[in-house]
Amino acid sequence: MDFLQSLVLPATTKHLMMVKLILALSMMIFIPFFGMLLGGTAFSVIFNSYGRKNKKPMYVRFAKDIIDKLAINRFVGVGLGIIPLLSIAFCYAQLLYGQTVITVSLLLVATFFLAVAVNFIYSYQNTFQIESLIETFKDISGLDKHELETKVPEEVTDYEFDLLNTNSNAGLWGFVLLIITALFFAGGTSIALNSDRYQDFQNIAQMFLSGSTFINFLFILVFSLAATGVAILFFFFGWQGGMHDMEEEYADFAKNIGGKIAFTGAALLPVFLFLSFFFIPKVALSGSVFVYTGLAFIGILLLCNLIYAVIKNSETKYIGAAFYLLILCVGFIVMKNESAFGIAVEKNLLAVNQKAMEVEAERKSKTVSTSGINGEEIYNKLCVACHKFDVKVVGPPYQQTVPTYNGDVKKLAGFILKPVKKNPEYPPMPAQPLKPKEAEAVALYLIEKVSGKK
Ligand code: HEC
Repeated sequence: MDFLQSLVLPATTKHLMMVKLILALSMMIFIPFFGMLLGGTAFSVIFNSYGRKNKKPMYVRFAKDIIDKLAINRFVGVGLGIIPLLSIAFCYAQLLYGQTVITVSLLLVATFFLAVAVNFIYSYQNTFQIESLIETFKDISGLDKHELETKVPEEVTDYEFDLLNTNSNAGLWGFVLLIITALFFAGGTSIALNSDRYQDFQNIAQMFLSGSTFINFLFILVFSLAATGVAILFFFFGWQGGMHDMEEEYADFAKNIGGKIAFTGAALLPVFLFLSFFFIPKVALSGSVFVYTGLAFIGILLLCNLIYAVIKNSETKYIGAAFYLLILCVGFIVMKNESAFGIAVEKNLLAVNQKAMEVEAERKSKTVSTSGINGEEIYNKLCVACHKFDVKVVGPPYQQTVPTYNGDVKKLAGFILKPVKKNPEYPPMPAQPLKPKEAEAVALYLIEKVSGKK
């Protein structure tokens, strides 16, 4: 995207360090939340439609609880989803400065899809609440089933029907859009590692040519499974002592399903971790990529054990540990990706730094470097005999003439070095024995003094 290129400036090595840090933090926020959102939406939609079709209220209740606990609310969706992803896109734009490759475009497209998805998902979540509101009113109305059917106005039953329709549609749309988001995110981040082949990735269709896009896409799906399962366990049973209004039957149901989802995801994760590792291009490999992959692998194995203990012995005390371990694993995976990306674009970053220094030098030469030379001293030595700021001496007062230069130090210095005839009321000014740098220093001094800066 060209407009992004014009938004970011080449950064120096110091700034690039900052950008990398922001990138890592944004990923640490985005990936776990996105995983929960994707899996949470998927399972909520599945349980919801299954529960309604087969008239199993417990399934519908589970669907509502999942989307409530995992997606939380709209603000969280924006704060932990959309904003971090946007920030990731900007960081990539900064780190890929001057390169033409579709990564940043893909990430921006992903952000767009995520924004639309988030909209659908929270209206899906909302309809559950309105529905339970209607149920509550029916309950307290004291009418029996037959009376409800005859006495409730048609608008209300129609509305209820519409609501249930929107409910399932919005959830499904949200899910589909999240899948698309995941695909573009995987594409953007995978392609960024192929720094020796950027010329092969110039438009969106080429994203599908990269095998690593698909592997990383699958990796995200499997990770979502693990994250969703662990999050169900955590938010139902771990967080602040767990949910309090669960009957035993429902609690067992939730623990069983959550545990199974978590275990399936966590057990598949090492497979995809290795696959995605093998797809890292040579230009992006380094010792630290190995180390972080290894750490992530060990973390995931431990995670599998913890989840197994939860399922087998119903040991809810391990649930908190499992949740934090999962976040730690995300940390290792993010570091793995980031060090791979860092290696892949090392040369580019050096070039960016070079460019940043050039831009900086150019900016300096425009603003004039007068270090070591004192403009005021020169004025007192050479000019004061003929010039004051406020009154006419031999030459005109500076307050009249200097502002006509509009702060252009170079132009004023040019006049001082080689005066030309200006005002017929004055004799010509003799040329001053100054070096160009000294003329600039005194010009700067005059400009700052006249404008009140000194
Ligand atoms: C011997 C007297 C003399 C000295 C010394 C002198 N000037 Fe001048 N200066 C003049 C005169 C006379 C004019 C008016 C020239 C004109 O209008 O053509 C002038 C004009 C100027 C102007 C106005 C230019 C314009 O665009 O109207 C500036 C600025 C200036 N001098 C700066 C300096 C500086 C800085 C120094 C010391 C480094 C200096 N002058 C030293 C006599 C002097």
